Amino acid sequence: MDPVVSQADALIRRSRESAVKPAIQAFFDEPTNTVSYVVHDPATRAAAIIDSVLDFDQAAGRTDTKSADAIIAYVRSNGLKVEWLLETHAHADHLSAAPYLQNALGGKLAIGREIIRVQNVFGKIFNVGTEFERDGSEFDRLFADGDRFQIGEIEAITLHVPGHTPADMAYVIGDAVFTGDTLFMPDYGTARADFPGGDARQLYRSIRRLLQLPEETRLFLCHDYKADGRDEYAWETTVGAERASNIHVHEGVSEDEFVAMRTTRDATLSMPKLILPSVQVNMRGGRLPESEDNGTRYLKLPLNVL
Ligand SMILES: [Fe+2]
Repeated sequence: MDPVVSQADALIRRSRESAVKPAIQAFFDEPTNTVSYVVHDPATRAAAIIDSVLDFDQAAGRTDTKSADAIIAYVRSNGLKVEWLLETHAHADHLSAAPYLQNALGGKLAIGREIIRVQNVFGKIFNVGTEFERDGSEFDRLFADGDRFQIGEIEAITLHVPGHTPADMAYVIGDAVFTGDTLFMPDYGTARADFPGGDARQLYRSIRRLLQLPEETRLFLCHDYKADGRDEYAWETTVGAERASNIHVHEGVSEDEFVAMRTTRDATLSMPKLILPSVQVNMRGGRLPESEDNGTRYLKLPLNVL
């Protein structure tokens, strides 16, 4: 076990033995299959919001805050104080509502420090001018592997889990782990690794780090698509369940087997519907591009690039 995973392991065990466990509320966005979470410390009411969604009707070019407003209502009605807005990565399937939530509720916006690489790749793809700094300065904190933070009295530690994108982070918060786009439910498998900067081999290694954590560890996933034969959406599982039965990466699947499977499967997947609007906005920490001189904001569609 590497030193950061063993620190995460110790933190999870401490949390399981103590009375202080994070309270977790999920918000599922069916149009993008995304799960957002509000995590809070029952003792202090301190909270973090993970992977929020700004509704977006692409055909109309219209954003909406219905999903984010549901989170605001939950935070207010439970008397929570938002300390963190955490992104597990720059999502390619939905726009983040983090700036809108930050404006309403406060809190520091954080993501993995490798976001700078993502900003460089996509800054070029979108041919963004020098006003876009590509230094992560849109965020209040950039996390490296093994960084620690607190939500009230609850301890948290970050794990850098690249592969789906270079910047993916998993957040270990008390006895729960927010896996971002690494693992999905055991019957659905794993995240794709074919976006710019993605790497199936890295994804396998990242997942193996997560699966070294104690087997009772609660895992909260970022997406669910209902596997064949399952009628309900699901987003919570355990390390033990993933080790035993994840269809792509259960115990015994080798790195080479995983890479062959992932590469073959990724070649059959089309780009997510909202990748161009999502990445364009999320590389800026969820901020929409500045308005042009007529007061309207525009998104770009690079042709024949992806
Ligand atoms: Fe993703």
